Amino acid sequence: MSIDELSNAELLGRDDLNDLEAILAVSASDQHEAIKAVKDNAEAIFTWDYEKGARPALNKLYEKAKVSMWNGETDLPWDTVVDQEQVARDDMALGTFGDMDLSRTPFATWGDDEWANLGMEFQNWSLSQFMHGEQGALICTAKIVETVPWIDAKYYASTQVMDEARHVEVFAKYLDEKMSGHYPINAHLKMLLDDIIEDSRWDMTYLGMQIMVEGLALAAFGFMHAMVEEPLLKQLLRYVMSDEARHVAFGVLSLQEFYADLSDKEMLERQEFAYEASIRMRDRFLQQEVWDRMGVNVKEALQLVVQDPGRVIFQQMLFSKIVPNCKKLGLLDRNDGWLRRRYEEMGVIQFEDWVDTGDEYEAFALDNAAPATA
Ligand SMILES: [Fe+2]
Ligand SMILES: [Fe+2]
Repeated sequence: MSIDELSNAELLGRDDLNDLEAILAVSASDQHEAIKAVKDNAEAIFTWDYEKGARPALNKLYEKAKVSMWNGETDLPWDTVVDQEQVARDDMALGTFGDMDLSRTPFATWGDDEWANLGMEFQNWSLSQFMHGEQGALICTAKIVETVPWIDAKYYASTQVMDEARHVEVFAKYLDEKMSGHYPINAHLKMLLDDIIEDSRWDMTYLGMQIMVEGLALAAFGFMHAMVEEPLLKQLLRYVMSDEARHVAFGVLSLQEFYADLSDKEMLERQEFAYEASIRMRDRFLQQEVWDRMGVNVKEALQLVVQDPGRVIFQQMLFSKIVPNCKKLGLLDRNDGWLRRRYEEMGVIQFEDWVDTGDEYEAFALDNAAPATA
């Protein structure tokens, strides 16, 4: 092939995908600052072509969004009493590590209380990262309003800005009122959001946010929605998912048109970006901050985490929306299957023929009884 491919070291800063030392070396240095500026290198684009519905699929999405708004303050049962410790004891962490032998590990002496504490920290961490990711989406979609050249897309993106504000709001409120602590943004997630914001090409915001971050969020919310019995969080996730499915569809529908005219070299840049984003998100789910807060040696904990069969399956499932959407966009197979080979290495290619999110949002709508995932 005549096109120059970048190596793992150039793309990710490490040769071995599973190099724990290198993953842990990425840590947030500025997490105690209240605000953080990131350079946005994109140009704001005006369009003088106001023909509404020139892109019918986007217009349909916009009309759907207008009548699908909900109110985070009044539509959710905030008076629900949440006993976080009981929730933790009922589900999550007690099953951590499955049947693995923990006798020579930092967890050998742990009893039910430590596992319940771990469960609560998992909740605090997960919901904090969702909240930070939602702020990333808020900023990215505001950026799309500015940078996309099509009026139908500007209209739709403006509804998504409102959706994302609501998502940040409800996760923040749930954390404040029902949980026992916050976490700063995970360093790998922050790196990815910075990359998306800094990129000057408007379609990269879509790829990074709509396809990768939101595709993963849709799968993660679906997983949590299926597991959680606490009724407030369950309903909150259901409402957020009904919006997220539209957001991912917006990415798929917009990029399908744009990618149709790209050269191999331009497509390779998008494939590399998708791969880099995938690895950042996978690294993020090692939850290094939780192990640190629990007072165990983080590297020793991670050496066990990466062998935990349940977690391996969970990490693969996170890509169940991303991979079929990448396939639909031609990202898997262009350039001799460059991204396909990377996803084979990551163990997630088996999702390629799962339903893509181009029009799946109808199934997630709130007037339907249940979401299509679970
Ligand atoms: Fe969102
Ligand atoms: Fe979203």
